[in-house]
Amino acid sequence: MKPVKVGLLGLGTVGTGVVRIVEGHQEDLQSQVGSPIVIEKVLVQNKSKARNISVSADKLTEDPWEIVNNPEIDVIVEVMGGIETTKTYILEALSRGKHIVTANKDLMALHGPEILAKAHQHGCDVLYEASVAGGIPIIRTLIEGFSSDRITKIMGIVNGTTNYILTKMSQEGADYADVLKEAQALGYAEADPTSDVEGLDAARKMTILSTLGFRANVALEDVDVKGISSVSREDIAYAKRLGYEVKLLGIAERQDDYMSVSVQPTMVKKTHPIASVNGVFNAVYVHGEAVGETMFYGPGAGELPTATSVVADLVAVVKNLKLGVNGKQLGLTYKEKKLKTDEQ
Ligand code: NDP
Ligand code: HSE
Repeated sequence: MKPVKVGLLGLGTVGTGVVRIVEGHQEDLQSQVGSPIVIEKVLVQNKSKARNISVSADKLTEDPWEIVNNPEIDVIVEVMGGIETTKTYILEALSRGKHIVTANKDLMALHGPEILAKAHQHGCDVLYEASVAGGIPIIRTLIEGFSSDRITKIMGIVNGTTNYILTKMSQEGADYADVLKEAQALGYAEADPTSDVEGLDAARKMTILSTLGFRANVALEDVDVKGISSVSREDIAYAKRLGYEVKLLGIAERQDDYMSVSVQPTMVKKTHPIASVNGVFNAVYVHGEAVGETMFYGPGAGELPTATSVVADLVAVVKNLKLGVNGKQLGLTYKEKKLKTDEQ
């Protein structure tokens, strides 16, 4: 039973959860894949930083190439965030035949096609379940669960930070800036929380979901985006008096060769199930021509929920390694087909 060796890029909120799950569930993971899964090296920015997880000092490195170029490492788990530098590491790792698991929606929304093409060229897996809706397995569901259907609408709350803020403003009359600080302290927010509150994080997630759901190439520029920074406590209180909650909704609709994708604060009737999705929770509605309406609900951010999705991808990569089918899964690549938007 040769161990599968993993290089972890990042030991922040999500990276810490990955270490906890890989170590804490090792026996169960081994029973599923038939080999130990070992975290061989961990990239951080600052080795001396105090951490709330203990990782032996010889495993920590500040040099990415100790992982990316390391012939011992089979799989790279990228949970460091960022776009251009991270893309360089991932493309280099793929060219060396390493499989990738990432939680990075910024990277996949902007450079998914290039990364997946490179993976295909080198027979590698790139899995990114944690990039959308944290602990909800929505990417696998869109690719596999709905492979038989034609999806016409994907709608939901796909950003935990803004839902946490809106919930606290609605239920406790809390101050926007104070609750944003809380969401940051809980590890929900992005390194630059502007992308949460201005809707960009949700837009990137809707780009990924609509690309997979509509089996077409949706670009970030196709998404109309408005965030919650201009939503006041008074707006929320007024909406409540009228029987509504304010939620940041992503809505992607498709009709024949046309689609529209948007992210915007929306007044949702209190009787609608989405109005009761509170705190860091996310919910995604998927409407298919055959299945009708379905809904998926769960924690959208945070250490262990997100790491659950990351480690599930890791298990999938290792299972593929055993079967010798890495890089061969159908439906995981982005498509050339482009749908029209109203502006086109
Ligand atoms: P954190 O900021 O908590 O952690 C980032 C980690 O990466 C830190 O350990 C940091 O090192 C390291 N790091 C960052 N940049 C570099 C660099 N250039 N070189 C070396 N190490 C680096 O981020 P999160 O864990 O919150 O998020 C990680 C990724 O997961 C992001 O892509 C995010 O969008 C995504 N994600 C996050 C979720 C969440 O709930 N937080 C949910 C879903 C996805 P050091 O510790 O030394 O500073
Ligand atoms: N900042 C993101 C959110 C993390 O709040 O939803 C999960 O992708």
